Amino acid sequence: MAGIVPSILSADLTRLGEQVREAVEAGADRIQVDVMDGHFVPNLTFGPDVVAAVRRAAPGIPVEAHLMVEQPERFVEAFCRAGADYVLLQVESTPSLYRAVHLVREHGARAGVVLNPATPVEMVRELLPVVCMVLVMTVEPGFGGQSFIPESLDKIRRLRRITELDIEVDGGIDVSTAPMAVAAGATLLVAGTAVFDHPEGVAAGIRALREAVR
Ligand code: DX5
Repeated sequence: MAGIVPSILSADLTRLGEQVREAVEAGADRIQVDVMDGHFVPNLTFGPDVVAAVRRAAPGIPVEAHLMVEQPERFVEAFCRAGADYVLLQVESTPSLYRAVHLVREHGARAGVVLNPATPVEMVRELLPVVCMVLVMTVEPGFGGQSFIPESLDKIRRLRRITELDIEVDGGIDVSTAPMAVAAGATLLVAGTAVFDHPEGVAAGIRALREAVR
C-alpha cells in the first residue's frame, strides 16, 4: 500500500500544529516540510525551526525535510538536529552530492535524492546503493497546486526498473494522478493541495487518496 505524505506547503500556517495533528490522526505515513531558499527555486519557505515544530506536533511519524536549496550540505546538520528523519537532496543542487548524502547519514538521518522533471533517471544510478529513497518531482518545484506532468509516469517506470528502493512522487498528486503514479511504481505520495485544501478537511483528503490507490 502506498504511503501518504502530506506536505505542509499548503497547510494553514496560522494553525500548523493542528493541521499536522489532523494529518497524523488521519493516518498520514510521514509529513514533508518543503524547504525553499529563493535561489534553487523561485520561492522562500521554511527553516529548521519549522521542522522542529512539525516534529513536536507529529512525534509518532517520520518527518522529511525536502531541501530545495542550493548547496544543501550547508544546512544538513541543522535540519538533522531539528529532528528530520529523512533529508531529501536535489540532484541538481550541489556538485558534491555523494558527500552531502554521507553528511546526512553522519548526522543520523536517512538520505534520499530528488530528481527534477528535466533530470534523467540515470543521474541517481551511482547513489542508489547509499540512499534509502528517490523522489521524482512530478512538477517543477517551487509552488503547490501545479498540474502533474504526465511524462513523469514513464520516468517512474524506468526508475522502478533499476531499483527496489522507495520511489516518492511530489507535485499534482490527487485522486486521479495517484493511482497512475502507483501503477508506474511509486510507493510514497506527497500531497499538499489534495490534503490541506480538500473541501471537507485534512482527514477527508487523506482518506480520498487512500481510497484512490487501494
Ligand atoms: C514543490 C512542492 C510541492 C508540494 C506539493 O513545488 O514540494 O510539490 O510539496 O504540492 P501539491 O499542492 O501539488 O500537492
